[in-house]
Amino acid sequence: MLRPAFVSLLAILSASGVANAWFRVACTDPLVQERIDPVLNPGQNPSQHVHTVSLSHRPITLTPTPPQVEGASNFGPTYDYNTLRASSCTSCEVAQDLSNYWYPKLYFHDRTANTFTAVDNGGLLVYYQNRGDDDVSNNGPGLKAFPPGLQMITGNPARRSKKYPVGEGSQGELGERAIQWACLRYGSNVGYDNTNGTGFPWTDCESGFNARLHMPACWDGVNLYKTDNSHVAYLSELDNGSCPPGYPVGLMKLFYEITWNVHDFADQWDPSTESWPFVYATGDPTGYSWHGDFQNGWDTTALQNAIDNCNNPNDETGSGVTEACSYLTVTSASVANACKINPIVNEQVNGTLTKLPGCNPLQSGPADATMYTDANCPSS
Ligand SMILES: *[C@@H]1O[C@H](CO)[C@@H](O)[C@H](O)[C@H]1NC(C)=O
Ligand SMILES: *[C@@H]1O[C@H](CO)[C@@H](O)[C@H](O)[C@H]1NC(C)=O
Ligand SMILES: *[C@@H]1O[C@H](CO)[C@@H](O)[C@H](O)[C@H]1NC(C)=O
Repeated sequence: MLRPAFVSLLAILSASGVANAWFRVACTDPLVQERIDPVLNPGQNPSQHVHTVSLSHRPITLTPTPPQVEGASNFGPTYDYNTLRASSCTSCEVAQDLSNYWYPKLYFHDRTANTFTAVDNGGLLVYYQNRGDDDVSNNGPGLKAFPPGLQMITGNPARRSKKYPVGEGSQGELGERAIQWACLRYGSNVGYDNTNGTGFPWTDCESGFNARLHMPACWDGVNLYKTDNSHVAYLSELDNGSCPPGYPVGLMKLFYEITWNVHDFADQWDPSTESWPFVYATGDPTGYSWHGDFQNGWDTTALQNAIDNCNNPNDETGSGVTEACSYLTVTSASVANACKINPIVNEQVNGTLTKLPGCNPLQSGPADATMYTDANCPSS
């Protein structure tokens, strides 16, 4: 569902420099929300914490309690590029993109009742940005389409604090700076903007809590995934600059943004006397565990054609108008919203809960959180 806030957000982002985004994939209502994570917890059902997933799916019907899905499957505990390409629909609005994108859910923590209520959001917007020295606009050789089978993440669900001084420039620090937010307030663009990778805001965001992240845009050219995510790297300036040695392939840079409707809960807390009451599904009251996952399901030829031909400064492809790119087919929100699958994990994740789904006790750090599974969950 495209809410008014979602539209005004584009204007805000344009003002804050994201305007050069060269095309956008809008993902509307999520396809499924459940504890499945083929990137961080491959083969594990359920995975550690709840994600909202915007993705494509095959023409199969998953019942709420099927056996664990293995191998070439739909979005499930494992990932297979060809299976994803066989998808019949996608909850995102570009037909050639059958990728998965996902991120943890946000909950309002009622500290008196000790309950957790799911916060709605206005959908995921993914910006595909041509950035860095490898791009032709910076006289580079040109960016490459994602290789079939590529998976990657940004952020770390265990993190509860910053470890590096802002601007230090190491890959670890760039990864911290890659998770960002804007607290959207009423009236023009007035709000709080954090591009330095700091945790949560401290006040109500009347027009929404806009969580953002940058994906790495440099690839080692060999590995489709490594568990430490070191097959990909950030640009030296995160949003521009060079790829580090050992990462010869420049990719389009993905930038995610999700706007959470935190204002729905404004009458349930008082920012002048209480701290921010929203927590991520990771059991994180700090905000530092914000992360996103990607698994590639693109039509490689279409994506490469779009990269090579739809960045013309003399027409609308140069200003992020996806519809102007003849290699991409923009579908409608109603088509995307009709794409749904049933969760594999049979548990309630929406509404008001007495605990976060899975074993995700609140851990506020500053040390990294202990990641529990259902099997080793400490009794509370
Ligand atoms: C980010 O950190 C730099 C360096 O400390 C500072 O100059 C800048 O104002 C910070 N930006 C934001 C949005 O917090
Ligand atoms: C990115 O860096 C290049 C090379 O330094 C520079 O020419 C270009 O203007 C930068 N792009 C942006 C958007 O800042
Ligand atoms: C979650 O529950 C709320 C309140 O009942 C409802 O408005 C919303 O549509 C639900 N979201 C999903 C994704 O099921």
